[in-house]
Amino acid sequence: MRIKTKLNRFGRNSKKQKGFVNTPIYKGSTIIFDSFDKYLKDISDKNNESLYGLNSTPLSDNLEESIKKLYNCESVVSVSSGLSSISVTFLALLKSNDHILVTDSLYSPTREFINKHLVNFNISVDYYDPELPPKNLQKLIRKNTKLIFIESPGTATFDIQDIPEIVKIAKKNNIITIADNSWASFIYCNPFKLGVDIVIEAATKYINGHADILLGLIASNKKYSNQIRSTAKGYGINSGSDELYLSIRGLRTMMLRIEESQKNALILARYLNNHKLVSKVLHPAIKTHHNHKIWKRDFKGSSGLFGIEMKKKYSKIQLKKFFNKLKIFELGYSWGSYESLVTFPSLEERKINKYKGSIIRIHCGLEDIKDLILDMENALKALK
Ligand SMILES: Cc1ncc(COP(=O)(O)O)c(C=O)c1O
Repeated sequence: MRIKTKLNRFGRNSKKQKGFVNTPIYKGSTIIFDSFDKYLKDISDKNNESLYGLNSTPLSDNLEESIKKLYNCESVVSVSSGLSSISVTFLALLKSNDHILVTDSLYSPTREFINKHLVNFNISVDYYDPELPPKNLQKLIRKNTKLIFIESPGTATFDIQDIPEIVKIAKKNNIITIADNSWASFIYCNPFKLGVDIVIEAATKYINGHADILLGLIASNKKYSNQIRSTAKGYGINSGSDELYLSIRGLRTMMLRIEESQKNALILARYLNNHKLVSKVLHPAIKTHHNHKIWKRDFKGSSGLFGIEMKKKYSKIQLKKFFNKLKIFELGYSWGSYESLVTFPSLEERKINKYKGSIIRIHCGLEDIKDLILDMENALKALK
């Protein structure tokens, strides 16, 4: 089966549902035992599979099984948001006095979780420069380094990392690797094939694709999955039934949506690459991108999210003028849905910031690309 067919077929069970195509929404805390013996078996369970709404439902089983097959891994745990898939994974793997290495081009709330919450567990962190060759990581590794957290492409600046090289260093030092794969999704990259141990995907983005839910997925092999599931359960973090239903529904059209977003973003990125106010297009699938070769080797495609660095650093007032001229692009967090968005990342929190001009992050949705280009062209006139 090819990917489009898999997305169409996986997790469908119409024979068990009186012929209805889609798995119905199961809501609930209590699940009734059908015998006393099953109850006795359940109370002695050590595998976090206790019969309770918090632990699993037919819908969570359905989505988790589908994603497991799509990543070709042994286990998937669904949780309440992309961010909780990251925090649960950290909490599952780390203990007091551990050290972690994390890319500096990180999704800001992940950095906030580390700096505000993980530090309370006496866990130390070094943010590494994603643009330096991975061999530089060796110098940062300590005796207590437990994991390396990769986000490729990185948030806002879209630098691509040489994941197989990072994995080589990690394996040599017995360090776990985790990749946030939300940008490419399982459609355009499988970090397990690059050697990574644990993959995070925010289903909030392309899997759902309609900006109406939050949901996160943690994919791993058996070595880690029990601990991850037990941590999610211990903190009382699960995935909601409507969120699961909409994620499963999103899978059916995901390929078409991500392909269209990709196409729109590439056309707009190429247009902006020739714009006189733009210094650099931060899009790994554009040939002028400094990591284009690595992207081409490790990814099968690109999504709708990229950035531009302007030749100048604009004031907030100038950026407001630009934004006020936009008629189609809207201002809002997140991405991966059908609507086109811009944001203005500041990069102030970074350890290393080599960017001199203003950065504009762009998400291309599913509108007509001609309208998106005209909108951007018109708004950029405000920055002359
Ligand atoms: C790269 C990346 N990872 C994770 C997340 C978190 O996902 P969620 O919004 O579902 O918490 C985001 C959200 O924007 C993101 O950009």
